[in-house]
Amino acid sequence: MNILITGGAGFIGSHVVRRFVNTHREYNIYNLDALTYAGNLENLRDIEDAPNYHFIKGDIVDEGFIKGLFEKHRFDGVVHLAAESHVDRSITDPLAFVRTNIIGTVNLLNAARDLWKDQTADKRFYHVSTDEVYGSLGAEGLFTETTSYDPNSPYSASKASSDHFVRAYGETYGLPYVISNCSNNYGPNHFPEKLVPLFINNIIENKPLPVYGDGKYTRDWLFVEDHAVAIDLVFHKGKNHETYNIGGFNEWQNIDLVKLLCKLMDQKLGRDAGTSEKLITYVKDRPGHDLRYAIDAGKISKELGWRPSVTFEQGLERTIDWYLSNEEWLNHVTSGDYQEYYDKMYAQ
Ligand code: NAD
Ligand code: DAU
Repeated sequence: MNILITGGAGFIGSHVVRRFVNTHREYNIYNLDALTYAGNLENLRDIEDAPNYHFIKGDIVDEGFIKGLFEKHRFDGVVHLAAESHVDRSITDPLAFVRTNIIGTVNLLNAARDLWKDQTADKRFYHVSTDEVYGSLGAEGLFTETTSYDPNSPYSASKASSDHFVRAYGETYGLPYVISNCSNNYGPNHFPEKLVPLFINNIIENKPLPVYGDGKYTRDWLFVEDHAVAIDLVFHKGKNHETYNIGGFNEWQNIDLVKLLCKLMDQKLGRDAGTSEKLITYVKDRPGHDLRYAIDAGKISKELGWRPSVTFEQGLERTIDWYLSNEEWLNHVTSGDYQEYYDKMYAQ
């Protein structure tokens, strides 16, 4: 089997590639990634020489290139993670999200449809999506697989659109697909523009921790390796034309999470208790900021037997340890484009 994984040099993608390369030796894994600011081949150093691993640098927005790639390698399955993934960047440059998340996804769908035609037995197009497509919850309730789509940011609107295209290709062309919608991930190899890795980096550097608004926004956090296990399960055991919600059973208000992070970092860095909390700075809110996300992961749990394997405290500790022992990785990703973005984003 030739399996295409898109976005495999990114945060979640690198954990998915590693899992597939190591646990499915019978597959040839092709990692297609444009290596944008968020893609980093250093994430895959440990498996880059594996005989069943192949890296291809390329852009999913390039229609001719994608078509040629499918004809050449005749992929049996696709796990599609490549995306522009940061809400704040989508507010300043929505078109980049339309290009990659919508047009890029449709290019992949066309290529898979044209290659597989009606020979679809044992073929699968797996689209990895987000809980943000469901919009925002109030104080109560959980997102289920039947919650209506109600996206609020250009990022979530582009992901919602790509989900709709995948579903439409299933209905219209009989494309065998599965979709999963997951909550916030955290863990090693996370680019430091998202909350957890940004704040770990800033605590190390004694820089302010910019909490948006009143900090009372709620997210449901999942350790990235548990997401990779769920993706493996859904790819192999999920039912065609179905959606699976994936979450951590683990809701935290941002400010409480940040305080926990500060406490753990003080312990790890040998600083006096309370040192890092002094870095907390309330800043201007994100426009259209969704109040609360929370996933009902009952379906994947009941049907496929999946549960997160680590507690939040264990996962956070592993994450912090990874950042503290991978200073070189952090220096490399914070030196270029990220630094420019950071200076622009938080200049106020
Ligand atoms: P990321 O930004 O870390 O990685 C995205 C990867 O895609 C990068 O390696 C980048 O180089 C690549 N890429 C971007 N544009 C491309 C293009 N045009 N062609 C080819 N490659 C391109 O993202 P992530 O956080 O790992 O998210 C991966 C997927 O999971 C996304 O689809 C995202 O919507 C979804 N998701 C993320 C989270 C989360 O908490 N991070 C949660 C749920 C779902
Ligand atoms: O829910 C899944 C989504 O989670 C994924 O689809 C996205 O790809 C991923 O980026 C993430 O989106 P969020 O917007 O929830 O993640 P982020 O880390 O950017 O922000 C988490 C919360 O922290 C959110 O309420 C905004 C807040 N925040 C974020 C940053 C970067 C701050 O208060 N300060 C910050 O500097």
